[in-house]
Amino acid sequence: MTPHVEPDPQAGAAVKAADRAHVFHSWSAQGLIDPLAVAGAEGSYFWDYDGNRYLDFTSGLVYTNIGYQHPRVVAAIQEQAAKLTTFAPAFAIDVRSEAARLIAERTPGDLDKIFFTNGGAEAVENAVRMARLHTGRHKVLSAFRSYHGATSTAINLTGDPRRWASDTGSAGVVRFWAPFLYRSPFYATTEEQECERALAHLEDTIAFEGPATIAAIILETVPGTAGIMTPPPGYLAGVREICDRYGIVFVLDEVMAGFGRTGKWFAAEHFDVVPDLLTFAKGVNSGYVPLGGVAISAEIAATFDKRPYPGGLTYSGHPLACAAAVATIQVMEDEKVVEHAAHIGETVLGPGLRELAERHPSVGEVRGLGVFWALDLVKNKETREPLVPYNAAGEANTPMAAFGAAAKKHGLWPFINMNRTHAVPACNVSEAEVKEGLAALDAALGVADEHTA
Ligand SMILES: Cc1ncc(COP(=O)(O)O)c(C=O)c1O
Repeated sequence: MTPHVEPDPQAGAAVKAADRAHVFHSWSAQGLIDPLAVAGAEGSYFWDYDGNRYLDFTSGLVYTNIGYQHPRVVAAIQEQAAKLTTFAPAFAIDVRSEAARLIAERTPGDLDKIFFTNGGAEAVENAVRMARLHTGRHKVLSAFRSYHGATSTAINLTGDPRRWASDTGSAGVVRFWAPFLYRSPFYATTEEQECERALAHLEDTIAFEGPATIAAIILETVPGTAGIMTPPPGYLAGVREICDRYGIVFVLDEVMAGFGRTGKWFAAEHFDVVPDLLTFAKGVNSGYVPLGGVAISAEIAATFDKRPYPGGLTYSGHPLACAAAVATIQVMEDEKVVEHAAHIGETVLGPGLRELAERHPSVGEVRGLGVFWALDLVKNKETREPLVPYNAAGEANTPMAAFGAAAKKHGLWPFINMNRTHAVPACNVSEAEVKEGLAALDAALGVADEHTA
C-alpha cells in the first residue's frame, strides 16, 4: 500500500532551517550539504514535505531490515516504555535476557554470550579488546576493502578512505588484501585462484608480522560498504584454519551482513564457519533504537569468568533497544523475513539486476545475495576502469552524481559508494517494490551510460 502523503512545504522549510542552523552532520563539509527534510516513512518508502515519495533502496544505512514503522515493533517499544524505560546494565532485566537468548540461539556455533553495545563501532572496539585480553597479543589484521566503524580502533581497522584523517598508524592494525576476483589484487582469473592466492597472501602477512604478535583477524563476512564481495568458496574456512593454527582470534563483523540481509540469519552460515567473536548491530532491531553487540564463544567468555572484563557502557542492553530486538526477531520469524530475503534475491532482485547489466554498458559486474547487491559501474566493460576514480569528489564524481540525481528523479533513493550503487532494500521488500526499483535503476543507468567510453 502506498501511504498517503500530505505535502507541507512550510513545515519542511522550518525543519530544514533548524537543521542547517544547528545539526552537525556525519562525514560532511557542513556548508556544502543540503539534507532532504523527511516527513515520514513506512515499509520500504519515505517521503518529504513536498509530497515526493522515495523507494528506499538503502534501508537507511542498510539497517531497516523489516522496513520502517513495523507496527509490532513500534508497539513493543511503546509497551516497554510504559513498563520500564531504562535500567542500568549491572542488573538482570527480562527483556535484556530475552534479547540475548534470541540472538545467541541464532548466531552460529557456540557464540552463546552476548555483550550489548549501542552500535556497530562499539561492538568492534569491544571485540578487539576481548581478543587482545584473551590472547595477550596486540596486533589486529583487517582487510583494505572494509568498513568497521568510526571510533578509534574501528576506524583504524577500516580500509576505506574515511580512515585516512583518523589513522594513528600506531593502533596495532595491519591491513591485508581479501579476495575480490573482479578487481583481483592477485591477478587471478578464477575463484579458485583468488581463494588460494588470498590465503597464501594472508599466511605471508602473518609470517612476516610474527604470528605470536597477532591477537585477531577481523573480516566482514561479506564486505558491505566496500562493495559486497561474496568471498570465494573455501576462503573463510581457510582463514578459520589459519587462525586455529596460530592461536589468533577470528572476528566476523556482521554489523551489515547479519540479521537476514544475505538470506540467512548470519552470513557465516553460507560458508559453514564459526568465528570466535561475531559483531552485530543494525538489523538486530531494524535500527529502531540504537543497539549492537558482540556474540562471544564459550572459550573467550571463559577468559572472563573469574577475571573482570574491563569494558562497559551506561546503556549496554538498554531495555527499549532490547524490546525492539525481541519484537524484530519475532516478526522476522513469524513473517519468514529471512527466507523471503533469500527468495527475492534469487528470483527477482538478482535476475533483474543481471538483466540490467546485459543492457547497460556502464554496469561492469553485478554481485551479491539475498537483498545485498552491488552494481560495479565502469567506464568500459573490457578495461573495467571504474566509472569514477577511487575516492573521487567534486567534478571527478560527476557521473555518479548524475546517476544518483536520475535515480531520485525516478522515485528511488539509491545507495552510492564511489563507483558503485548497492541495491539493499528491506529484507521484506515486496516483488512489486523490487520491480519498481529495477525500473528506476534502469532509467538512472541510462544516464550513467552517457559517461562510458
Ligand atoms: C560492517 C560494519 N561494521 C561496523 C559498522 C559501524 O557501525 P555503527 O555505524 O553502528 O557504529 C558498520 C556501519 O556501517 C558496518 O557496516
